[in-house]
Amino acid sequence: ATAGLVDQFGRTASDMRLSLTDKCNLRCHYCMPEDGLEWLKKSKLLTAGEIVRLVGLGVDRLGVRELRLTGGEPLVRADLVEIIAALRRNHPSLPISLTTNGVGLARKAQALADAGLTRLNVSMDTLHHDAFFQLTRRPFLDQVLAGIEAAAAAGLGPIKVNAVLMRGVNEGHAAELLGWCLERGYELRFIEQMPLDADHGWTRDGMITAAEIRGLLAGDFELSPDPRSRDGAPAERFEVRHHGSGELLGTVGVIASVTEPFCADCRRTRITAEGKVMSCLFSRTEIDLLELLRVGDSPADDNAVAARWQDAMWAKPRAHGMGHPGLGDADFVQPERSMSAI
Ligand code: GTP
Ligand code: 5AD
Ligand code: SF4
Repeated sequence: ATAGLVDQFGRTASDMRLSLTDKCNLRCHYCMPEDGLEWLKKSKLLTAGEIVRLVGLGVDRLGVRELRLTGGEPLVRADLVEIIAALRRNHPSLPISLTTNGVGLARKAQALADAGLTRLNVSMDTLHHDAFFQLTRRPFLDQVLAGIEAAAAAGLGPIKVNAVLMRGVNEGHAAELLGWCLERGYELRFIEQMPLDADHGWTRDGMITAAEIRGLLAGDFELSPDPRSRDGAPAERFEVRHHGSGELLGTVGVIASVTEPFCADCRRTRITAEGKVMSCLFSRTEIDLLELLRVGDSPADDNAVAARWQDAMWAKPRAHGMGHPGLGDADFVQPERSMSAI
C-alpha cells in the first residue's frame, strides 16, 4: 500500500474527514428530522484508539495530508479533547481542523487549542434568534456566538463560518451576516443546500443557488473573483469591497455543490463514525474498516486495512450526478444517510 488513495478517474484523496459521532444537539431542517434519528450504539462507534490507528494509517501510509473532524456534532463526544491530543502527539505537523455547530464551544475552545487543534469552522446561518430557532429548532444562538468568540480568543483561527440559506427563512440575512463576519475577520462561506436532509424534503427550486447568493450580496457589497488559487477547496472565493471603494474588506466563499459541482477536483476521503469509508458525500456504497480492526483476537493487519481503504476509494464515483455534463438529475439518487451521519 504505497500508491495512496487514488481513484480510477485520476484523483488522489489527501484530505481525510472523520466523523466522531452521528449525534447532534441541533435539528437543522436541511439535515435532521424534528425527533432526531436513531443514534448509533456506543459499541458501534470507532473508539479513540481506533481513530488514532486509522489516522496513523492514512497519514503514514496513504498520503493523507490534512484531517478534519466532523459529526454529527463532534463536541458531544466526551473524549474529543483526548482524541485531538493523541492525534497531535503522533502527528506534530498535521493540520487538524474541526467542523462544529458551536453549541458548548465556549467552554471547550481553550482546551481544544491546548490539545493541538489547528483551526475550526462553525456553522451559523443567521444572527436572528427567531430565524435560528426556525432553522435549527433549538434556541442556542447565543451559545454559538459565545463559542465563536471563545474560539477566536483561543487562537483557533482563521475561523470560517458556514451558512446554509433557506428560502423564506434567512436568505434576507445574508448580507448582514457577511458584514458581521467581515468586521471580525471571520471567513464566511455560503453553502448551497444539498439533498442530504433526513426528511428528503430538498427540491431544486427550493434551494438558493450560488448565483442567487451572489445576487443577495450585491446590493451591499461588490464581489470580485479572489485571485488566489482555489486549490481543490469546495468554496469559490470572492474579494469583498463596498461599491466604488478600493478598500478590501475581506473575502466570502460560495460552495456551489449542486449548480457548479467541483467533483473533478475532489480530494476527500470520508470515514463515518462507525468506521465505514465513504468515497463521496453522496455515495451509496460504504466499505467497513471497523470490522477489520476488530477481527477476533488477532491484531488486525495494517496492510489489509490499508488495502480495503484503497479499494473503497478506487471505486469513488466520477461525480455526484446533479448538474454534470452527461449526467442528468435523473441519474441522481439521494443517499439514505443524512449529512449528520456522514
Ligand atoms: P476547509 O478546509 O475549511 O475549506 O473545509 P471545508 O469547507 O471543506 O469543510 P466544512 O466541514 O466546513 O464543510 C463545509 C461545506 O463544504 C459542507 O457543508 C459541504 O457543503 C461542502 N463540502 C465539504 N466536502 C464536500 C464534498 O466532498 N463534496 C461536496 N459536494 N461538498 C462538500
Ligand atoms: N446541504 C448543505 N449543507 C449542509 N450542512 C448540513 N446539511 C446540509 C445540507 N443538506 C452543513 C452544515 C455545516 C456543514 C458541515 O454542512 O450547516 O456547516
Ligand atoms: Fe446538527 Fe450539523 Fe445536522 Fe445541524 S447540520 S442538525 S448542527 S449535524
